[in-house]
Amino acid sequence: MNTAIAPSPVDVKLLRRRLGEFSTGVTVVTYRDSDGQPRGATMNSFTSVSMDPPLVLVSVARQAKACEGLRDNAFTVNILAANQLDLALHFAGRPNTSLVVGWHEPTVGPPRLTGTAAWLQCRSWRDYDGGDHILVLGEVEHHDARPLEPLTFHRGEFRRPGLKLLQLPRTVAFDGRPACEWASHVNMFYALADAGIDDQPLDI
Ligand SMILES: Cc1cc2nc3c(=O)[nH]c(=O)nc-3n(C[C@H](O)[C@H](O)[C@H](O)COP(=O)(O)O)c2cc1C
Repeated sequence: MNTAIAPSPVDVKLLRRRLGEFSTGVTVVTYRDSDGQPRGATMNSFTSVSMDPPLVLVSVARQAKACEGLRDNAFTVNILAANQLDLALHFAGRPNTSLVVGWHEPTVGPPRLTGTAAWLQCRSWRDYDGGDHILVLGEVEHHDARPLEPLTFHRGEFRRPGLKLLQLPRTVAFDGRPACEWASHVNMFYALADAGIDDQPLDI
């Protein structure tokens, strides 16, 4: 008896709705086209991949101009601030002719946008097949951030972040492994006690 379960046809519209349950930030991926002009495309498929080497990924629709533009090309992932909705729309195929786009064009490397919450400048690493998208991996070479609220996207709507629910403890390197900040303080206390140093002020 054949017990293999035939894959059920996926309702693409419904799948899109399901995927929209996952909140993301909003980025504009910027690059130079073959004529040297600065270009950008709004993308929320951005994700971190690796720390060593430092790799990030964006999933780019094959029909997007950015698909050709990003192949073997340096790019910058611009993480938009909550007040940059106009840029998100502009680079998502709704060009606004009256919008003045603030470009920063470094002498070396891809162009980027001004006023963003953060940016990561990448050199091309590798592209992979991703069905009707290509998965573009970049190696982060430079990055910076400003303390701005990010723009977010959830259920097909642009939003700004809500309430902070829990302040997680910071992690620090401890014996070469990541640990909560309080763990290293406790360890320092025991180390001092073991060494018989009990009058040393603990700098915590
Ligand atoms: C919130 C949001 C997120 C998007 N994310 C992606 C994405 O991850 N990948 C992609 O290929 N297109 C994405 N798009 C659609 C592109 O921004 C859109 O197709 C754009 O016109 C592509 O520009 P281009 O053809 O000039 O490259 C997104 C659009 C919006 C509004």
